[in-house]
Amino acid sequence: MNKRDELWWRHGIFYQIYPRSFQDSNADGVGDIKGIIDRLPYLQALGVDAIWLSPIFPSPMADFGYDIADYTGVDPLFGTMEDFDLLVKAAHAAGLKIILDLVPNHTSDLHPWFVESRRSRDDPRRDWYIWREPAADGGPPNNWMSEFGGSAWQYDAATEQYYYHAFLAQQPDLNWRNPAVRHAIHDVMRFWLRKGVDGFRVDVIWHLIKDKEFRDNPPNPNFREGRPPHKKILPLHSTDQPEIHDVIAQMRRVIDEFDCRVLIGEIYLPLERLVAYYGRDLAGAHLPFNFALLSAPWHARAIEKIIFEYEQVLPAGAWPNWVLGNHDRPRVASRVGQDQARVAAMLLLSLRGTPTLYYGDEIGMHQVAIAPDQVRDPFEKNVPGVGVGRDGCRTPMQWNATPNAGFSTSPPWLPVADDFVHENVVNLEADSRSILSLYRALIGLRKKLPQLVSGAYVPIAAEGDLLLYRRQSEGKAVVVALNLGAEPVSVATDAFRPGGEILLSTFLDRQGEKIRGSLDLRGNEGVIIGG
Ligand code: NOJ
Repeated sequence: MNKRDELWWRHGIFYQIYPRSFQDSNADGVGDIKGIIDRLPYLQALGVDAIWLSPIFPSPMADFGYDIADYTGVDPLFGTMEDFDLLVKAAHAAGLKIILDLVPNHTSDLHPWFVESRRSRDDPRRDWYIWREPAADGGPPNNWMSEFGGSAWQYDAATEQYYYHAFLAQQPDLNWRNPAVRHAIHDVMRFWLRKGVDGFRVDVIWHLIKDKEFRDNPPNPNFREGRPPHKKILPLHSTDQPEIHDVIAQMRRVIDEFDCRVLIGEIYLPLERLVAYYGRDLAGAHLPFNFALLSAPWHARAIEKIIFEYEQVLPAGAWPNWVLGNHDRPRVASRVGQDQARVAAMLLLSLRGTPTLYYGDEIGMHQVAIAPDQVRDPFEKNVPGVGVGRDGCRTPMQWNATPNAGFSTSPPWLPVADDFVHENVVNLEADSRSILSLYRALIGLRKKLPQLVSGAYVPIAAEGDLLLYRRQSEGKAVVVALNLGAEPVSVATDAFRPGGEILLSTFLDRQGEKIRGSLDLRGNEGVIIGG
């Protein structure tokens, strides 16, 4: 990829690494930076263009690095700053970009800023966090709830006020209405950008600004028992406030002080609200993460509706993106089933916009069942038994059939999936029809055919289990036909040009087959047809 290619993040493919679980190099059972460096050739061979690392900064690890105690350091668990510099150098030499996780909504309660802030009501850092008087009855200032269970307010007996935490009490929220906080985080960004990182994925960016009046949130009329408790109220006043867009525009200006960098936002909102995060005149996030597929019912019509709606609401000139998995959501192979995981891969890599892969999805890793005594995730610990646990999608990468799947020579921090002896990179690389081979072929095809990256999305049909669309640009087109069910489907349509041929089947066995009249898809098969 050209070094000065400003639009690399449009045609590139992103790959998320959860560093704790990718590759351990020092036998402590936790992945690290050196481990990632060792695995760069794998990522190069896979064909991805950018890696996003979940947090690697010094942290007490109450939320596994999303509780940062020093924004400009590296946690010894992951290595040293020298290791990080080496990673940037090695990744760039391999043609890979490095994206860091920026977590500006909250710090660790052990961050020196918070230690100072809680010292006294008139500490100069007091206003860096969100402190409020108790309600008249001495209880929390309002009804806002923590996403990880319970009230979002923690009482501090020493200063007799509450502080706000959208997540754990060990993750106090910074006060983004305070310009000093903004400047401090901008400097953090510059620190890493100067080191050569290619951009940031910004954690819970839609949370940064809260209602100035701290009004109570309304109840959620659609709440059902068995859902996580914070869903009982709608976060109307605690997230997605109009002032957020200025905050993001300021961050974007920092990004734009440097060449060819990218700003990605983590945002869970309905599509029509999500797209506001591109900002006025597209001066916000380059890529507000589109998570719609993470919770999509796996039906042709439902998926077609999502794609169509997204394409409709995208502002002019905004570049789309798609995500199938991340470290907070159940693995795609478990959500849609192993057979459909291949179809999902074809969907992800044949849609218009930047795809983000989650480590291990390319080898079909599934959600691992975690025994109660092995639970590490604070969300599951706080809200047990309703299925919110995130450990199962964070298990060690399965590299080979040796003990601990080649991830570590010591017992890993989370259990390895028990099918690792077969389902591992070495085995799947040797199998020309494996899901890994499919991912490589899809990525290869996407790189070869520009219409798969930027061609217009033209819906053709969404009936029963069949999802059919065309991607076309400048007279060049491909047709994508996905069978989202286990039964065969026959497609008789004039969507295919006479003489069109199959470029790729998810079973990797029909390449070059000519389409005559109708197309027969096997159960769980997707094909890309050129012509
Ligand atoms: C979103 C992150 O993806 C998640 O892992 C984390 O727990 C919360 N933000 C809090 O930082």
